[in-house]
Amino acid sequence: MRKKIVAGNWKMNLDYETGLGVFSEIVNMLRDEKQGGQQVVICAPFIHLHSLAKLSAEVLAVGAQNCHAADSGAFTGEISAGMLKSIACEYVILGHSERRQYFQESDSLIFEKTKAALKHNLKPIFCIGETLEERNSGNFFQLLEKQLKDGLFGLDVNEFKQVVIAYEPVWAIGTGLTASPQQAQEVHAFIRQTIATQYGTEVAENSTILYGGSCNAQNAPELFAQSDIDGGLIGGASLKSRDFVNIVKALNH
Ligand code: PGA
Repeated sequence: MRKKIVAGNWKMNLDYETGLGVFSEIVNMLRDEKQGGQQVVICAPFIHLHSLAKLSAEVLAVGAQNCHAADSGAFTGEISAGMLKSIACEYVILGHSERRQYFQESDSLIFEKTKAALKHNLKPIFCIGETLEERNSGNFFQLLEKQLKDGLFGLDVNEFKQVVIAYEPVWAIGTGLTASPQQAQEVHAFIRQTIATQYGTEVAENSTILYGGSCNAQNAPELFAQSDIDGGLIGGASLKSRDFVNIVKALNH
């Protein structure tokens, strides 16, 4: 059976003290209320991660939002996958549309980062998605396929099995617009089929594919009820402990 995951993406929000407070609330609520075996992850700004990993008490995992492709060296301002692993970070978001858009990250760079993460036993949460223009152009399935091929399919099968995929339509991120459950399911089924063609049906069936883009406690139950949606990558709604925990609980239904 494939793993179900709800991951929060705090982006560049919450100062250190506030972040620790929200995280502690999430830990306490999950301890009291969580049912089921779903994995919960909070992907926080770098400066929070060490403290959060210590507070996580095996109730949830901690992830970063980016890493560099190199192990070490003269890359002022950057953080390596090995450094993240050394503070008990378990996941790293790679290829988020904001990184692709604002930091010009290409599929090939994202592939190098994914390799680096896997080398240090970090699990990549690998994001793909189309803009509204691309969706309206009609051939966005080809674009999604290209993102998968160029960013991921260079991995061997054992590497690929460690990767979590997140489908995040760019037009739905932070906009309040959500893909309908049918639209999301259609793309998730396409992603799973594309994985099957590359790595075989069994690998595809066991791959975790998350939906992201204005997912909240209200729309999560219907999205998570779709057969190819295995959880969510949650931005805005992960900044409030109660909202986030309600989304986690929606995955158990
Ligand atoms: P959102 O962000 O939930 O605020 O739309 C999702 C994401 O970018 O991961």
